Amino acid sequence: MKIIRSVNLMTKSVLAQKAARRSVGFVPTMGALHEGHLSLIRKARLDNDIVAVSIFVNPAQFGPKEDLKKYPRPVNKDISLCRKAGVDFLFYPRSQEIYPEGFKTYVTVEGLSSLLCGRIRAGHFRGVATVVLKFFNIVRPDTVYFGQKDFQQVVIIKRMVSDLNIPVKIKVMPIIREGTGLALSSRNIYLNKEEKKATLAIPKALNLANILIKGGLRDSKRLISRIKMIIEKEKKVRIDYVAIVKEDDLTPVNKITGKCVIALAVCVGKTRLIDNMAVKA
Ligand code: PAJ
Repeated sequence: MKIIRSVNLMTKSVLAQKAARRSVGFVPTMGALHEGHLSLIRKARLDNDIVAVSIFVNPAQFGPKEDLKKYPRPVNKDISLCRKAGVDFLFYPRSQEIYPEGFKTYVTVEGLSSLLCGRIRAGHFRGVATVVLKFFNIVRPDTVYFGQKDFQQVVIIKRMVSDLNIPVKIKVMPIIREGTGLALSSRNIYLNKEEKKATLAIPKALNLANILIKGGLRDSKRLISRIKMIIEKEKKVRIDYVAIVKEDDLTPVNKITGKCVIALAVCVGKTRLIDNMAVKA
């Protein structure tokens, strides 16, 4: 595995592979890798001749009061996980390499970026779209792998790829969860024991919603209130939003028809967690 810190070398290395007609799969990450990330890397490994992974804690997607400084950076462990997973290129740039002095250009996917998580995290998806587009241009992947865990991110990146005619194929992989049902996240390490226990209300509420839908309940308001009731029983958990939206454009639905997504964000202590579940009538 080659660890690459420079943009030019990254592009050059990939172009050499593409010249030899090898397919390139790419997994962008912010590191602190867990089984969720590894599921994407393994799928990229299965599908492609060459696998590139990026590890970059992207300052542009963190708000001024968010956890940029505190975000976990277990670099040596991440390197060894990538090596074991058969990664060919690990792109691990310094911040100045991605945002050199004088950097002025940002990508905003309008509308979609200010809904759901975007309401509270102003500027977050602008930072995500910008860095992801930069990585597409640097790494030139044929296929890029994202997790359904960050469902709104996927909708936004798909919109950007379509709107800007970016020649990349997007594959979305299912949410990987702990045995308890909690979705894996690099931020879970912030949770203490009691907080972790409180998070179990999240999968419990989503599972109940699924059962109610299977039982014939279609009304979004009623479903949302049942979900909130379960989560609100946990005093340590504060709900940011619970929404039921169309899976392609995030518009809220009154009644579940066709494919929808139940998406939610909560704060447990100081830790913000998101989760979602695809449902259909
Ligand atoms: P990060 O949070 O490190 O996630 C990298 C990728 O791993 C994302 O596509 C995310 O959806 C996926 N992922 C995280 N947890 C997962 C889980 N439990 N199951 C399945 N997939 C999971 O998302 C980002 O980084 C950044 O915004 C990035 C796209 C790298 C841009 O900076």
